[in-house]
Amino acid sequence: MVNVTFKKMPEGQKMPAIGLGTWMSTNEEELVSALDAALEAGYRHIDTAAVYFNEALIGKVLNKWLSSGKIKREELFVTTKLPIAGMHPDRVELFIKQSLEDLQLDYLDLYLIHFPVGTNYVGSVVTPPDQIQVETNDHLEIWKKMEEQVDAGRTKAIGLSNFNQRQIERILENCRIPPVCLQVELHASLQQKELVEFCHKNNLIVVAYSPLGNPGYNKFLESVGQDGKELPNNLQNPIVQNIAKKHNKSPGQILLRFLIEKNIVPIPKSVTPKRIEENLNVFDFSLDEEDLEQLEGLEKGEEARICDFKFFPPLRESPEFPFPL
Ligand SMILES: NC(=O)c1ccc[n+]([C@@H]2O[C@H](COP(=O)([O-])OP(=O)(O)OC[C@H]3O[C@@H](n4cnc5c(N)ncnc54)[C@H](OP(=O)(O)O)[C@@H]3O)[C@@H](O)[C@H]2O)c1
Repeated sequence: MVNVTFKKMPEGQKMPAIGLGTWMSTNEEELVSALDAALEAGYRHIDTAAVYFNEALIGKVLNKWLSSGKIKREELFVTTKLPIAGMHPDRVELFIKQSLEDLQLDYLDLYLIHFPVGTNYVGSVVTPPDQIQVETNDHLEIWKKMEEQVDAGRTKAIGLSNFNQRQIERILENCRIPPVCLQVELHASLQQKELVEFCHKNNLIVVAYSPLGNPGYNKFLESVGQDGKELPNNLQNPIVQNIAKKHNKSPGQILLRFLIEKNIVPIPKSVTPKRIEENLNVFDFSLDEEDLEQLEGLEKGEEARICDFKFFPPLRESPEFPFPL
């Protein structure tokens, strides 16, 4: 089994330095075989969200592994997220309890606010487009409810996703329990150096989503009836491919190792057992200064953002929309 390193968290918990992403993994057969392959290979960190509609399937597989005694609960690190429709002080407890039930867990390791903008709630995890209304609720009021989930033992830690620096600062300045993590889009073409520096200075672990530049993103856009967009295509980049040849590794492994060397935790998603194993095998080599310099040079800034949430147009009307428009 691969020897994965850990990031220390303020209360002494440890986050495995790589996790398995599960967005767009809803096919039962595919997801079950992916999770089995991942747990077999040595992944212990699983990232999901209420809006991925796969918590119940993940719960089934985790329960199988836990009840067989092959893994212990304390070896696992499970993250899930408060959906946009849950961004109201009265709905945090409702959603975390539902996630725990679906995942068949007594507690989460990390519960994140998925996005800094909320919508109305009409009884479903995602509010249907014809009923959607953006709601502006004070992040501090919602954060208080997140803190109460730690007090109640429903999650070991709480954090943020897709928040910008101003929004994180406001939480840090006013919280009782600080966020332990920021999960944001981060890959060789969108390195978010300033934000990473700010987080590290303030003891937030940075978790990178779309660490490979999500080559499957256009399938998602198609599924919500939108046109595809140009993607960074980092896996095919000749610089990445040359570095891969030099180290006898795959382009994906180079992109993931690049983040690990920057003290960032990648959560690559795959449902392909061979890739799942490959993506974990990034702890037995290092990149040299020349490699790092070349990979740093792939930065394209905002234009390389993949997951811009433009697929959900009402969110952009909110003053809390976090990214430059
Ligand atoms: N907080 C948020 O708002 C947010 C937003 C987006 C994502 N996330 C989280 O971050 C996770 C990862 O991000 P992501 O899914 O957007 O993108 P990603 O991990 O960068 O890319 C996933 C895509 O890459 C393919 N792939 C995986 N390993 C590969 C390899 N070694 N070589 C070539 N292709 C490979 C996968 O295909 P196959 O599956 O077909 O193998 C899939 O199409 C998500 O699954 C989710 O858990 C969070």
